[in-house]
Amino acid sequence: MTAIDFDAIPSKRLPALLRQAPKAELHIHLEGSLEPELIFKLAQRNGVALAYPSVAALRAAYAFTDLQSFLDIYYAGASVLLQEQDFFDLASAYFERAAADNVVHAELFFDPQTHTARGVDIGAVIRGLHRACQRAQAELGLSASLILCFLRHLSEEEALATLEAALPWRRHFIGVGLDSSERGHPPEKFARVFARARELGLKLVAHAGEEGPPAYIESALDVLKVQRIDHGVRCVESPQLVERLAAERMPLTVCPLSNVKLRVFKSMALHNLPALLAAGLCATVNSDDPAYFGGYINDNFIAAFDALPQLGAREAYQLLRNSFEASFATAAANAVWIAQLDAAFSAAA
Ligand code: ADE
Ligand code: ZN
Repeated sequence: MTAIDFDAIPSKRLPALLRQAPKAELHIHLEGSLEPELIFKLAQRNGVALAYPSVAALRAAYAFTDLQSFLDIYYAGASVLLQEQDFFDLASAYFERAAADNVVHAELFFDPQTHTARGVDIGAVIRGLHRACQRAQAELGLSASLILCFLRHLSEEEALATLEAALPWRRHFIGVGLDSSERGHPPEKFARVFARARELGLKLVAHAGEEGPPAYIESALDVLKVQRIDHGVRCVESPQLVERLAAERMPLTVCPLSNVKLRVFKSMALHNLPALLAAGLCATVNSDDPAYFGGYINDNFIAAFDALPQLGAREAYQLLRNSFEASFATAAANAVWIAQLDAAFSAAA
């Protein structure tokens, strides 16, 4: 147990402490970090026609009513990504922003099917992203790993083919995930491809309980055998599930700004992050699709702590510590970051 005196940390110190503290980001879609300015730059470089005349007009279209209304724009934005260099530039831009937020470790989702459907070589996608991860470590001291996500609105056969096509670059990604339209596409639809990924020694995660019911969280755990739940906020509708998630210390990668923009919660003041922590869950804070939802990881922390008076220094520490507990980095690396986190909080007390 750490002996940090949380009550001695003045609340006015908290925003700076949240910004400065080391943190891991575990739920970030690289395609969701594609800023409008980079969309326009890549469209010009690659000769891709856009449906919007300007960055401002594109940004103005970012008014979402639910997950699907966001995904339609998100897939359209990703259409400018064609060459290996584009994927390198995309990830490098994210790493610059993440380093400024004191992210020391990031596990990044990418959606190869969004690109292979347009004729892009999956090797170009993975090589470009991997090269950016190597540069992030070398130049920013930021540790980074990739997680290949299957699009759940497509078939399991397509997911299986995507996994096989990615295997020449097996050493460049640590795990697989499941994203895109949740409702009507339960985790069990992907039982075989997750079993295959498990055989290959890959880590397993899945989006569940963002718009979908608690039963999807249960089948992600029981059928897919995931090691983390992405979002998972609807777990609170099942007290037995909350008890199970707490007992198993099953991480939930929560994305506050995303949840408000996609109307999972009507406002940040109504977000259930405090309730998740109070129930003893291993909740973490993440940005999901920062270019679309109004901010990167520190913006998520600040927005949540501004709107939710139940969140104080103790909860800040818990969320940051959870990010390392939930990460797939080595125990030794996590221990170093947790020691840095403890030092930052002890110095503020
Ligand atoms: N793909 C990108 N962001 C997503 C989200 N929030 N839920 C499901 N799929 C996504
Ligand atoms: Zn997501």
